[in-house]
Amino acid sequence: MPPLRVAVLASGHGSNLQALLDAFAAPAAPARIVLVISNKATAGALARARGAGVAIATIPEDGGDADALLALLERHEAGLVVLAGYLKRVPDRVVAAYRGRMLNVHPALLPSFGGAGMYGRRVHEAVLASGARVTGVTVHLVDEQYDHGAILAQWPVPVRPGDTADALAARVLEAEHRLLPAVVAAFARRSGGGGGEPRCSLAAEAFVSAPSLQPDFADALTTA
Ligand code: GRF
Repeated sequence: MPPLRVAVLASGHGSNLQALLDAFAAPAAPARIVLVISNKATAGALARARGAGVAIATIPEDGGDADALLALLERHEAGLVVLAGYLKRVPDRVVAAYRGRMLNVHPALLPSFGGAGMYGRRVHEAVLASGARVTGVTVHLVDEQYDHGAILAQWPVPVRPGDTADALAARVLEAEHRLLPAVVAAFARRSGGGGGEPRCSLAAEAFVSAPSLQPDFADALTTA
């Protein structure tokens, strides 16, 4: 069965992209990263893609128009699109064309701490300000609103006494690096390698294939 062809959109360092590149490097892997698109010419994600020999493309800093993005995705025959630290809204027509086949990773437990303007450090600052004892990672389908589509998988991460936003971000990012590839792998297995119909209940499968996350869950319970 051919691997699921995955396009990744990223605006930043690209550590989630790296986790995907590492997870799907083997020729027999169920998915393959075939294209990395960034709206920032200097994004670390582009350098990581180059390093892995993956095709790259840049789009205007404001995200550009739907036609250009769709043409790129179609030319590379992307069966799944992953937003990995992509900071612009994807045009509605692209969302519609990839409905059920576009994922986003968010560094908190949606529907809390999400929505317009809630990205990067701001998310973790809001979590700390709220007094929440548990935060986490959400992987969800993308729809026309920020951080709003159907939730596919979540993983809790403890907030520890004395945490700074940076410390919390680092702890959450570690969980992102495990959960996101697990969800993509589950998606690839269920879609038979060729994209296709929407799949909405991957959480259980992702958890089974990411058992090393479990100690963090226990930690979350004991500190809460
Ligand atoms: C991650 O926390 C992601 O969830 C958020 O921005 C960060 C990007 O990190 N949207 P990276 O670019 O993957 O290193």
